Amino acid sequence: MTTDQPDPAKPILLFDSGVGGLTVLAELRKLLPSAPIIYAADNAGLPYGDKSEAQIAARVAGLLGRLTERLHPRLACIACNTASTIALDAVREVLEIPIVGTVPAIKPAAAMTRTGVIALIGTEATIRQGYVDRLEARFAADKTLLRLAAPELVDAGEARLRGEPVDQGAVVRAVDALRAMPGGTDIDTVVLACTHFPLLEPELAAAFGSDVQFVHGAEGIARRIASLTGGQAFRRDHEDIALFTSDGPALEAYRKGLASYGLTRIEKF
Ligand code: DGL
Repeated sequence: MTTDQPDPAKPILLFDSGVGGLTVLAELRKLLPSAPIIYAADNAGLPYGDKSEAQIAARVAGLLGRLTERLHPRLACIACNTASTIALDAVREVLEIPIVGTVPAIKPAAAMTRTGVIALIGTEATIRQGYVDRLEARFAADKTLLRLAAPELVDAGEARLRGEPVDQGAVVRAVDALRAMPGGTDIDTVVLACTHFPLLEPELAAAFGSDVQFVHGAEGIARRIASLTGGQAFRRDHEDIALFTSDGPALEAYRKGLASYGLTRIEKF
């Protein structure tokens, strides 16, 4: 048994195009407070949502390959719906460590809705995925699922982490677009199918009104990571690190926000 134990200092790697994966990190900290974490953001590739499947798959598989080779994580989590719905299988094929992905929370939403009308907000790339079609067919075939691409909200989530005011106009535009769809006035459950969007939950709640509930995958992902690393020892030898694929003065604006998630060291990957 002991031979299976990873080095306690081996980190858990969280990956996203930007700061959205921090919503997963927040949940993970609650379950595994002593786990060493490396958070990697492909900000040079942000946003993923407007890229093609081929571009995203090549980028994510290549980067996770290089990150894993360099950092030797015990587990990697793709804390990004866009990257997961497109590249999860490809990444699992090339890497030997456990890979945890992010799946749009359609199943819990279908169990929660009373009106039968669910909204799903994600990136343009996520909402067109067959992966989402299959989740809908499997778990919400008897419901109405209204999908909306909201790229402006990715920018708004990034702004929040920089401590800038959130563009409430962008939030209202997204909510109005959903409400205007057939059945939209009956939406009572919203799937936040982009890890950036829970960062905007207060603004979304204000725009949707109090009858609407939100669901996303962060807690479930954290539980999955905790279960896959169950029984393993953790030791933090240094500060937790945030890695970015592009550096420069713009990163400074994120320092305070990252530190509030325990990421006190920022480096270029
Ligand atoms: N955080 C990513 C997601 O969960 C999307 C952001 C992007 O467009 O890069 O889908």
